[in-house]
Amino acid sequence: MHIPTFIERKRDGHELSAEEIAGFIRGYTDGEVPDYQAAAWAMAVYFKGMTATETGALTRAMMHSGSVMTHPAGSPPKVDKHSTGGIGDKVSLILAPLLACDDLWVPMISGRGLGITGGTLDKLESIPGFRVSLSENETAAQLARIGVAMIGQTANLCPADKKLYALRDVTATVPSIPLIVASIMSKKLAESLDRLVLDVKFGSGAFMQNRADAETLAAALCATGRECGVRTEAVLTPMSEPLGHTAGNALEVWESVETLQGRGPADLVKLTLDLAERIANVPRTQLAHWLDDGTAWRKWVQLVEAQGGRAADTERIVEIHATPLRHVVTASRDGKLTRMDAGLIGRACIALGAGRAKASDAIDFAVGVSGISKIGTAVQTGEPLLTVHARSDETLKAALALIGQAIEIA
Ligand code: URA
Repeated sequence: MHIPTFIERKRDGHELSAEEIAGFIRGYTDGEVPDYQAAAWAMAVYFKGMTATETGALTRAMMHSGSVMTHPAGSPPKVDKHSTGGIGDKVSLILAPLLACDDLWVPMISGRGLGITGGTLDKLESIPGFRVSLSENETAAQLARIGVAMIGQTANLCPADKKLYALRDVTATVPSIPLIVASIMSKKLAESLDRLVLDVKFGSGAFMQNRADAETLAAALCATGRECGVRTEAVLTPMSEPLGHTAGNALEVWESVETLQGRGPADLVKLTLDLAERIANVPRTQLAHWLDDGTAWRKWVQLVEAQGGRAADTERIVEIHATPLRHVVTASRDGKLTRMDAGLIGRACIALGAGRAKASDAIDFAVGVSGISKIGTAVQTGEPLLTVHARSDETLKAALALIGQAIEIA
């Protein structure tokens, strides 16, 4: 295969064949195609786009660049959800065990936080002993035993995406719909799913800043999922304020436990059920009942213990990860809370050390924000609006500067 011609064809707006795309991805994964040619091609895709057929071919080529899960014949339907990422979005921690109560298998492969959005793996790793890197055999055995596994991307899963994503990150080619779709869907489809629900977020705390862009992404993700034989649906959700009342790794585990024990905040419970009902066998009322009656909590206990943690630790995770400083931000006047900007709260969490600027950065599980008041709440002067959990005066000061801009009372 002559790579310069392949790049040239995309540069000039031609449709690439599935064979060409597969050959290129194989060559890039094996190291025969160098980064500079892959970067030139990614930039050509950025400007010229891809047809739905090309996007499907790219997704399949990336999915088959590594191992694809196999499930035993006759096993329950395999389901999962993917979120494009938000602030305080701990839905996966609740939804995965909830769906496993429904005679479904949930082989959930999640990512780490990057930028202002949190990552499920980081939240899970705040639980002492919790292992997110299970082998393929361990994952298969756990699915057969309890119906759910929450793991990270293994070295064998979509290696083409790992390489290409790192390259896109440094060549200004991340925001390309076909490249985003192939990246997301190749990893999800490698789970060999029957049903997938996508939570495509828009707003200040999301990857997509406005609803129109989120709709375009959702349509492209669904088209590719369906083209690859998976029942795929998308839900568009605003990310203008954080989800629930917490943002930060251990704090979000605590709020997830509250929700699994039937005490979840209304917006978090609603979104979890909105997503779960699209891929569940049972109706929404049954799913809601499992959150209230301890069934989902018991599945969480099984999950945590199966992966090396202790469920009791998740109930006292905030004491395990206590911070030396806790600062309560209060209302400066009487009125209605009109803004609690998700993007700025996310940036405050990064300033506190809850996230990373680059993939190799260490994160602080303990820090973050709790007790976040919801937009629309009537507040009085001096009433708490949120609590900042900080490691040092310096990070607290940086976070408070951002939080000051995030809040408006009218
Ligand atoms: N998440 C991914 O996994 N890939 C992208 O390209 C963007 C977001």
